[in-house]
Amino acid sequence: MHLFKYKNQQLQCEDIPIQQIAEKVGTPFYLYSYHTLVRHFTVFEDAFKGIPHLVCYSVKANSNLAFLRLFVSLGGGVDVVSGGELYRALKGGADPQKIVFSGVGKREDEIEYALRSDILMFNVESSQELQVINRVAERIGKKASIAIRVNPDIDPKTHPYISTGMKQNKFGIDILRAPMAYQQASQLPNLEIIGIDCHLGSQLVEVEPFIEALRKLKRLVENLRNEGMEIRYLDLGGGLGITYEDEEPPHPMEYASILLEEIRGFGCTLILEPGRVIVGNAGVLISKVLYTKENEEKRFVIIDAGMNDLVRPSYYGSYHQILPVKEETREEIVADVVGPICESSDFLAKGRKLPNLYSGELIAVMSAGAYGFSMSTNYNSRPRIAEVLVRDNQMFVIRQREVYEDLIRGEEIPEFLLP
Ligand code: LLP
Repeated sequence: MHLFKYKNQQLQCEDIPIQQIAEKVGTPFYLYSYHTLVRHFTVFEDAFKGIPHLVCYSVKANSNLAFLRLFVSLGGGVDVVSGGELYRALKGGADPQKIVFSGVGKREDEIEYALRSDILMFNVESSQELQVINRVAERIGKKASIAIRVNPDIDPKTHPYISTGMKQNKFGIDILRAPMAYQQASQLPNLEIIGIDCHLGSQLVEVEPFIEALRKLKRLVENLRNEGMEIRYLDLGGGLGITYEDEEPPHPMEYASILLEEIRGFGCTLILEPGRVIVGNAGVLISKVLYTKENEEKRFVIIDAGMNDLVRPSYYGSYHQILPVKEETREEIVADVVGPICESSDFLAKGRKLPNLYSGELIAVMSAGAYGFSMSTNYNSRPRIAEVLVRDNQMFVIRQREVYEDLIRGEEIPEFLLP
């Protein structure tokens, strides 16, 4: 569900015609619907009502402070993977006791920052990391609550770049070695074992891999409990997919009810780390067509947003629907929609059937709320674009468009190069 709909032949976000927003903020920009965000979070949260649970929004999907604040105000926790994300989460008002910290390469300063912030738990991904966390905790006189991130070796059947729970991936500790890691952790005086964690990958469109993972984790927890370890949190990660084109992922209600069946009465608080399913379809990228051109073989629609603004099509070959902001009957064309970046990989759509688009008009690149802005860069020295949130008939700029000065902030010409 989302609230980007045509009304009077104009694409609107909630109650505001997108054209109007573009006139105020210029193009390109990311545009988000408040009520879509609230609904997605609430549906997900409510789906798990029957059991003790904690929904930790995955900051990497969209890290804007306004998003974090919103989900925190709806009772959410957060999943962070860096000191920077932790900083954002705290600025967004997150309750430290609802923060989980994952990632294969946590630095000592990040570990210390998280310990001093009193986060709920570290999802630990290697035996060396256990030792480092223990050492840092000892140095600053704290006890670190930890879960082991287990790699369950399950194929999530998604794009290889976003599969994380298979043996060939760098993530987590192999499920067969996990008992050893727990033993090791139980010997380290400044660690407290409280949970178990896994994350299979992203954009999963079937529920089976989640069930398989949950069953594997439960078996392991039973063994650990037999050895006297108290596992109170079971974190199943994120990964539930959305519809970009014609995918049919399970509805969060269906996903939840199947997981609930499996875990009810198991004595663990279930943690989930959804990102995309909450924010993906709540955001679009609005861009202007600059030029159109064609040769004997191809048509190109050249727009003012590029791969630096939305990298997913170039990077994963992913599909984003493209709609003209003005709805009218037009002939259909087949074209590549490309940006201004100096690389042939700079495209938002390839060989796409589209209504004939003309220079100067606005288009909406749909389902761009997740991993859109958060993966954007300054490549080709392009200022990062504005982000706008709409609630009913009000719009709020939640991130200003960068200006040229932002591009060189922190850069210095060494004295010997100066006249
Ligand atoms: N938890 C952990 C430990 C993760 O690594 C991720 C995503 C999530 C939760 C959230 O997953 P989600 O619910 O959003 O699927 N840039 C890629 C996606 C990378 C996902 C990385 N990890 C894309 O644009 O498709």
